[in-house]
Amino acid sequence: MSEQKGIFIDKSGSTEPAPELWEPAIIKKTDFDAEIERLSNMPAPNNGRRQSWIVHPDSHKLGVGLGLAPGIRPIVEVLNPGEQTRPIRHNSTQVNFCIQGGGHSVVGGKRIDFEQYDLFNFPSMQTYIHVNDTEVIQVRLTYTNAPLLEKMNVHIVEEEPPTDIKLIEKSEKEGNSEDDPRRKSPYGTFQLTKEGAWLMPYEILIAPEAVESHALHWPWKKVKKELDKLTALGSDYVGRRLYLLWNPMTGRTNGTTPNFFATITIRPPGIVDKPHRHVSAAMNYIFQGEGRSTVEGKVYEWQSGDLLLTAPGWGVHNHASTGNEAIYELTIQDQPLNITMESLLWQEDLKKPWSVLGMETGFGTNRKKIAS
Ligand SMILES: [Fe+2]
Repeated sequence: MSEQKGIFIDKSGSTEPAPELWEPAIIKKTDFDAEIERLSNMPAPNNGRRQSWIVHPDSHKLGVGLGLAPGIRPIVEVLNPGEQTRPIRHNSTQVNFCIQGGGHSVVGGKRIDFEQYDLFNFPSMQTYIHVNDTEVIQVRLTYTNAPLLEKMNVHIVEEEPPTDIKLIEKSEKEGNSEDDPRRKSPYGTFQLTKEGAWLMPYEILIAPEAVESHALHWPWKKVKKELDKLTALGSDYVGRRLYLLWNPMTGRTNGTTPNFFATITIRPPGIVDKPHRHVSAAMNYIFQGEGRSTVEGKVYEWQSGDLLLTAPGWGVHNHASTGNEAIYELTIQDQPLNITMESLLWQEDLKKPWSVLGMETGFGTNRKKIAS
């Protein structure tokens, strides 16, 4: 039997080149509308999922794990009235954002009724279906971290998985118990050096603390009520008028899923953000108003219904609202993943140094001075 041999690549004395930034890519509302119509008019697929991946042209260069950013793939998903999808589950996690119509999803046995601009998350390996029990077409933008798992060659997808939800709940509870015998070891976890290096036995390695992960739902009507109050911050405010739709299970990494955060911003007319940059990739879906983004010196204009990769990695960018009405936008970033990896370089002010967020002190705004 032949075997694969690992190879050496001599990199002595070599330096790593800076990553080549992807150009911001934009999907205009008219293109969305045409694709939604095409998906709606085709014969219903066997699994019920009318969907198209939204992919950056440069994504193909990476070979595997297609996305609009290397680690984020938006998918436009359409359900005609009366349709529902077949059950599926996977170890990728998702943020779902309803952009048209409404309906309900059942995630891990929990029913979520949603309307336009509602957002909900999908935990790992929880079986789900989508249902359109309305009279109009349902369209969702789903953001998945599947491209990252595909690059790692570990994206596990099960179509028509077993439906015994109770079994999953039972094992979750057992794993969380302090008395769980699997978490006990006669040797324990102990400090090895004065500087703080420790040793951990296998028994804990295979039964780490389990944190319950639920599908959570942020209804737009409730979010909007809170968001609109941020206009009181006034035009002198230097921060962003936004809320992160926070899932507490993500803890210090500030996520909506362990991989992504979702924020919704209100941007009154005439606001121009200061240029900044961050390692996390960001994409904006605008659902009211119009404006422009400047990324690495190039200007990109956008209107309501457009989706745009605005921060392709470590590129300088800023946004401005140019119309007469306030902008509402959904931003998805892979910031939580970067905090976990200790890779989140963030430069809030280009005249000042960057900081590794989550490891070093972050930045401030002038919020206390102008509003409580
Ligand atoms: Fe940004």
